[in-house]
Amino acid sequence: MLAEATTHSVSRLTRVMTIGDDADMRGALGPALSGAGFEAVEATSREDALARAAASPPELVIMDLESARSEGFVEALKRTCPSLPILVVSDDHADLSAVQAFRCGAVDLLERPLDRERVVSAVNRAVSGRRADGGLIDRCVAATCGAVGVVAKSGLMRNVYRTVLRAAASSRTTVLIEGESGVGKEHVARMLHSASSRWAGPFVALNCAALPETLLEAELFGYEKGAFSGATARKPGLIETANGGTLLLDEIGEMSLGLQAKLLRALQERSFLRVGGIESVSVDVRIVASTNRDLEAAVREGQFRGDLYYRLNVVRVRVPSLRERPSDILGLARGFLQGFAREVGNPLRGFTKTAVVALLAYSWPGNVRELENMTERAAVLSRGPLVRRSDLGLPPPAAPKLDAPATGQDGSTVERTLEDVERAHLARVLYRCQGNRSHAAAELGIHRTTLAKKIRDYGL
Ligand SMILES: Nc1ncnc2c1ncn2[C@@H]1O[C@H](COP(=O)(O)OP(=O)(O)OP(=O)(O)O)[C@@H](O)[C@H]1O
Ligand SMILES: [Mg+2]
Repeated sequence: MLAEATTHSVSRLTRVMTIGDDADMRGALGPALSGAGFEAVEATSREDALARAAASPPELVIMDLESARSEGFVEALKRTCPSLPILVVSDDHADLSAVQAFRCGAVDLLERPLDRERVVSAVNRAVSGRRADGGLIDRCVAATCGAVGVVAKSGLMRNVYRTVLRAAASSRTTVLIEGESGVGKEHVARMLHSASSRWAGPFVALNCAALPETLLEAELFGYEKGAFSGATARKPGLIETANGGTLLLDEIGEMSLGLQAKLLRALQERSFLRVGGIESVSVDVRIVASTNRDLEAAVREGQFRGDLYYRLNVVRVRVPSLRERPSDILGLARGFLQGFAREVGNPLRGFTKTAVVALLAYSWPGNVRELENMTERAAVLSRGPLVRRSDLGLPPPAAPKLDAPATGQDGSTVERTLEDVERAHLARVLYRCQGNRSHAAAELGIHRTTLAKKIRDYGL
């Protein structure tokens, strides 16, 4: 499209609108864009931008962070030009700016001082519909993980977070999160919420397994006065409480078929009836569903409605079990330990080598929640300064199976990276040799110095 625009003078140039009144926006961007073969349109204010966009829609806009964050502006612009890509210019390199730009729907972030080449290549990428180079998403992943004190080291988790952030960018898309118990499904749902334009709205979670059908319906959709005995006043449901935000339906696989039908109707029509009500209530909520069951199998067995499954499964995220991503274990454990140690006032500095090896060799059937609980216990019981293996209360390591392929929820084999496999195998051999490096190196068939380097690299 761009090439055509620059080679055939009769065809219209790609129109790029800049919004802002400062020297960068007016003095530097315009000539850079014109020089690269775009039609540069300068809007000096937000009102001016809306008027110009209505008269002749641009193919892309560049605006400062302040404009992007001003209430209702991006929404108003997108009403005129629904799929308009937005590049945001920020004054600093702070991760917070990246997150704020992303929440406003930016596809890329340009930092001052503006670099002409970088601007032109970002514009080219965005107008041709190609994704940004991942820089913005990766920075948001890093910032969000940093905010909750977690380093997602494994490639598997980084991919999960990237998918989550891409889904976050479209604020109504339904997301289905699958994964074993305790892997962090709710954690991922909260991240989705906080990276989306809904971040300032409510995040509400409802556990569908915790209540019988009638109570769950009343909890979800609310009820009118007199709907049933005890309903002395109207009560809004959680779907209304979540208006403007995100509603997580946890353990969706446990919802009854009758209620599934009502939920499907609410999702399709974006409105519903309170229990005992006749007036339909409209809401603007993103629905996120999570499950540790295999919903596809449940559909085949007639326990889950196929139409609801397809409606929920617009973006699907599978959170891998902890044994599939051993490179996350230590980062999580250290993060949890720091928090708990502070909480209980125990000045712990970390884990002993044997404790580290034991953490890596364990199979974590209860996933991150089990690791979190175990770390809390260690923070309470350990006499420090380092947590020892015995403080962890781990079951005996009779037959660690870490070098067997990891299995997914459906029993299928899940690929790990070569690094993950090597690290796990090293941990297992070191454990068997009780930390004796000479014996371990001999068993592994490598030189002792090579082993020492690998131990350092893997943080064993
Ligand atoms: N990446 C992570 N960083 C920090 N904490 C995490 C992470 N993942 C999970 N946790 C913590 O682990 C615990 C379990 O996570 P969460 O409740 O999200 O799991 P879940 O998959 O929803 O579990 P369940 O299936 O039992 O509902 C929580 O306390 C959560 O804060
Ligand atoms: Mg949960």
